[in-house]
Amino acid sequence: MKDEIIKILQKTVEPLGIAAISVALDFPENAEHGDYTSNVAMTNAKRLGLKPVELATKIVADFDKLVNKSSLKGLIKSVAVAGPGFINFTLTAEAVSKNVQEISKELNGSEGSKGQISNIGAGKKVLIEYSSPNIAKPFTVGHLRSTIIGDSIARILSATGYSVIRDNHLGDWGTQFGKLLVAIEKWGDEFGGLDGIKKSENPIKILVDLYVKFHDEVAIMEDSEDEKLKTEAEELVTLARVKSKILESGKDPIISEIWKVCVDLSMHEFALIYKRLGVSFDPKRGDTQIGESFFVTPYKINPVRDALNAKNLLKDSEGAKVVFFGSEDPKLWKLPPLIVEKSDGTSIYATRDLAADLYRINTYGKGLILINEVGAEQNLYFKQLIETETMLGWFTKGQRLHIAHGLYRFKDGKMSTRKGKVIWLGDILDEAVTRASKINADSANDVAVAAIKFNDLKRDSIQDIVFDWDEMMNMTGDSGPYLQYSCVRARAVVEKAKGLGISADTSGARPNIPQLDLLERYLLRFTHTVEFAGASYKPNVIANYLINLASLFNSFYAQVTIADKDSVTGAGSQDSGAAYKVAVTQVFADVLERGLDLLGIKVPEKM
Ligand code: ARG
Repeated sequence: MKDEIIKILQKTVEPLGIAAISVALDFPENAEHGDYTSNVAMTNAKRLGLKPVELATKIVADFDKLVNKSSLKGLIKSVAVAGPGFINFTLTAEAVSKNVQEISKELNGSEGSKGQISNIGAGKKVLIEYSSPNIAKPFTVGHLRSTIIGDSIARILSATGYSVIRDNHLGDWGTQFGKLLVAIEKWGDEFGGLDGIKKSENPIKILVDLYVKFHDEVAIMEDSEDEKLKTEAEELVTLARVKSKILESGKDPIISEIWKVCVDLSMHEFALIYKRLGVSFDPKRGDTQIGESFFVTPYKINPVRDALNAKNLLKDSEGAKVVFFGSEDPKLWKLPPLIVEKSDGTSIYATRDLAADLYRINTYGKGLILINEVGAEQNLYFKQLIETETMLGWFTKGQRLHIAHGLYRFKDGKMSTRKGKVIWLGDILDEAVTRASKINADSANDVAVAAIKFNDLKRDSIQDIVFDWDEMMNMTGDSGPYLQYSCVRARAVVEKAKGLGISADTSGARPNIPQLDLLERYLLRFTHTVEFAGASYKPNVIANYLINLASLFNSFYAQVTIADKDSVTGAGSQDSGAAYKVAVTQVFADVLERGLDLLGIKVPEKM
C-alpha cells in the first residue's frame, strides 16, 4: 500500500518539476497525524519559488484527482496538509483491515516462502562476520555482543531477501600462542600435562590461567632486582616468539599438535555457548567458521602482497612493511599507517584480514557486501583496513562495513570480581537462567536468553550497556521477557476464544474501537520497519517497534473485552466484533513472534 501511494505521489509531483526519487513516505511519530507522511513539499518548495504549505496544498489537490482514478480509490480516507508543510495520509478502515490480513497471510504463507518478509535484498549477497572469539581465551562479553547483534542482522537480511553467509572468524593465530605453548611446557605438569588438561572439567579455564601465569611470572621477573631473573624473563619472551614462528612454519608436529588440541577444546566450548544462545553457523546453509590460521599460508598471503605492490602501496618503515594513508608525511596522514608485515616476516592481524577478504571476494564474487561486527575498540583498525581495501579497488562505497558495538559495564560489581578479572560468559548465562526460572521455570533458558539479547538489541549497537538484571528481566518495561509474555498472553486469548467457539474472522463488521484501530494501523508498519532495519543494519529499529506494538496491544487488552462468554450469547455489548478482535489479536501474536525471531528470541509455549 505504501509503495502504491508513493507511485501516485510521484506521478503527482513530476509535472510540478519534482524528481520522483525525492518522494519518500515516513511513518508519523504521532498516530493522529495519519498512517504515512511526506515532506516532499518542504524539501522542494524553495527551489520552485513557493511556500511549503502552498506547494503541499497544490500537491494534495492533484493527488486527490489521480487517486480517484487508481486502484487506491476508496482506500484513502484523507490527505491533509499539516504543520509547516507535511502531507499526511490516512487510510480508511477498510484499507487497514485488508492490509492487516495481508500481513497475516504473508507471515503464515505457503511453505518455502514462509519467513520471507520482503525481497528488497533479492540478488544481493552479503557476508556478515561476527562472534569471532579467540582460541584458548575466554569468550568475552564483547564476543557476546558481536554474536547477538551479528546473528540478528543476519536474520533480518535473510528475511528481506538477501543471500547471507554467516562467518565466524575464529582468532586461532597470533603471538599469544607462543606464550601459551611456553606456559604449557613450563607449568602444564601441574595439571597433568596436555592430557590432564583435556580431561579436566574446564580445560579452557586452565589454558587461560596458564596464559595469565606467563604474563604474571614474566612481569615479576622483569621487576626484580636480580639480574639473573631479568635475563630469564627475556629468554621466556624470546622463546615464545620462536615458538609462534615455528608454529607458523608448521614444521614442528608436536607444537602443531598442541595448538590443534587447544583449537578443538575451544571449539567444543564455543559450540555449547552457541547452543545455549540459539545461534548457529551451519555449513548446510553456507555458513563458515574459518580461523585466522587458514589465511597464514604463503599461498593466501602472497597475492595480498602482490596486490599491494601492484598499486605501489607497500612501503618500508623500520624494517616492517606498512601502508600509508594520504601521505608518508606524518603531518599529512589521513590515518596512521597500517603495518601489514612484521620485520621478522611473520604475518600480522591485518595481513590475515586482507588475505581473508581477498579469499572472500574470490569465493563469493566481486559484488559481495562484506560486514564485520567487531567492538568499537577496533574502530581505527577497521578504518585502516577498509581504506586499504578501497585503495586496492576491492570494494566500492557501501559495500564494505564495520559495525561496531560499545562496552558492557557492570553495575553489580559482584559479577566481575567473583572469579578474578575474567568474566566468564557461562556464569552470566547461569545467573540469567536462575533469575529467569523465577519468571518461567519451564522455559528458563529461553527467557534468560531473551532478557540478555533484548537488552542488547533495544539500543543502537554503538552504545555501551550498563548490565542491570532488574532492567533486563523487567516484566512491565521494555524487556525480552515482557515481549515473550505479551505474545503468550495474546495466544492465550485466541485459544480461550476458540474454546468458546469464536475463531478469528474478519469477514464481519470491523468494530469501531480506538485501541483496535491504533493497533491495526501500527501492525501495518511491520514490513517497512523490517526493511528499514535491514537497510540500515539496525536491529534496534525492530526492537523498538515491538515494544510500541506490545504496549498498544496491552492497552487494547486491558481496556477492551476481546472475547468472553457474552460475546457468544450476544448478551454483551461487544459481541458483534469478537471474531474480528480475535483475528487482530492473532495477527499481533504472529507479528510479535516473527519480530522476536528476527532478534533471535524464541517465544515459550506458556509463561
Ligand atoms: N578475534 C578478534 C577478537 O577477539 C576479533 C576478530 C574480528 N574480525 C576480524 N576480521 N578482524 O578481538
